[in-house]
Amino acid sequence: MKTSGIGLLFALLFLVFACSKSDNSEGVDMGDPNSEDPDPTTLSYQNDVRPIIQGNCLSCHGNPPTNNAPMSLTSLSLVQSAIENRNLLSRINNTTNPMPPDGLMPQSARQLIADWANQGFPE
Ligand code: HEC
Repeated sequence: MKTSGIGLLFALLFLVFACSKSDNSEGVDMGDPNSEDPDPTTLSYQNDVRPIIQGNCLSCHGNPPTNNAPMSLTSLSLVQSAIENRNLLSRINNTTNPMPPDGLMPQSARQLIADWANQGFPE
């Protein structure tokens, strides 16, 4: 009984330590441009947004656009202008008139694009 109590105490201490450790590393940007960025608070077009657009939009919004898509989304400035002028953010969250037309992307992808726009479209 006594030894298992101590074991539990150590397990709890370890958990607290492990949690506080990961809390500390969150929000700290190590500044390595080559590392994959696990921190969702620092987004970039190249690493975060472009792969989502590539996988979900460019089959129609390529250059040139196909399947009657009205514009291309192949660069940061084109995506930015679609967010600012073509309601991109509401279309990717629109259940009656979604983009892509065959169904909404996962919530995490939609949120990521909105967060990126809120951060001022970082490259
Ligand atoms: C299967 C082809 C296809 C895919 C894939 C697709 N789109 Fe579209 N998109 C269209 C077509 C066709 C239109 C024009 C008709 C409409 O607005 O529904 C359009 C329109 C839009 C518009 C409105 C443009 C305007 O001026 O009104 C936005 C914004 C948009 N798409 C964004 C996206 C995004 C972002 C993705 C990927 C997440 C995507 N689309 C994926 C075909 C597609």
